[in-house]
Amino acid sequence: MTAKIINGIEVSAAIRADLRERVTAMADRGVVPGLAVIKVGVDPASAVYVRNKVRACGEVGIQSSQYDFEANVSQQTVLDLIGDLNERPNIHGILVQLPLPPHFAIADILQTISVDKDVDGFHLYNVGGLVAGGTVFPPCTPYGVVKILEHEGIEIEGKNVVVVGASNIVGKPMALMLMQRDATVCICHAKTRDLAQFTILADILVVAVGKPNLILPEMVKTGAVVIDVGINRLPDGKLVGDTDFEGLRHKVSHITPVPGGVGPMTVTMLLANTVASAERRLQTQSERLLTSVAS
Ligand code: GUN
Repeated sequence: MTAKIINGIEVSAAIRADLRERVTAMADRGVVPGLAVIKVGVDPASAVYVRNKVRACGEVGIQSSQYDFEANVSQQTVLDLIGDLNERPNIHGILVQLPLPPHFAIADILQTISVDKDVDGFHLYNVGGLVAGGTVFPPCTPYGVVKILEHEGIEIEGKNVVVVGASNIVGKPMALMLMQRDATVCICHAKTRDLAQFTILADILVVAVGKPNLILPEMVKTGAVVIDVGINRLPDGKLVGDTDFEGLRHKVSHITPVPGGVGPMTVTMLLANTVASAERRLQTQSERLLTSVAS
């Protein structure tokens, strides 16, 4: 079997084209979606991610504003900025790039972002929404994985899904989103013994750990769908995921490459959440206007 290599750039482009149209439709009603991006410190990976996010906003017509702080900035300064951004009507999404320096209490930062502007989906309300099945903003990376599966026509209902990695940003929300779509979900993590006994059962295997070559061909079922969320830089500078891509592509039915698989989708779903936030606000305003006219 030779796998279909899923092109995340292509899937992203289709979604971004739709977003551009929605942004244009809002512009006709005088609204430009706005995203505020906050970065603290000089983590090189964060700098690249933030640059990509800001550039992508420009591509679909979202107005982005970037706030960069030195690593030694006080938490209160950042909380004050978030409080201010929460009140601004031209801001529809607020994102604080993680990780933050050690003197920050990340939970305090994330819980201060208004639920209606939490386009990363990290606020406890949105996390709770994932559990109860009514989230406001799905977190971007797992949301991107679901969109890839939908785009490829891969059925989720009733499938055995194994998620390797139990982070708050990817693994846990991924598992909840797929469970919501009636998959049978198993989560593996750093303490899982004999990983292969679980991964071999997967119809859909999602791997988000950060270890090159963690998943080898003998650990997957023939014909499985493999979604590789890992991004690892090898000593020779090459970017790879968490799976043995060359080995797996002759055994599975679908696989995402690294780079060019899930990565572009994460940024695209951030744009999608920001556009959805602006549309929701417009909808709420229109409904309020109608109610006040009727009364
Ligand atoms: N750091 C790594 N991934 C993410 C993400 O999706 N959002 C934010 N805010 N920070 C991150």
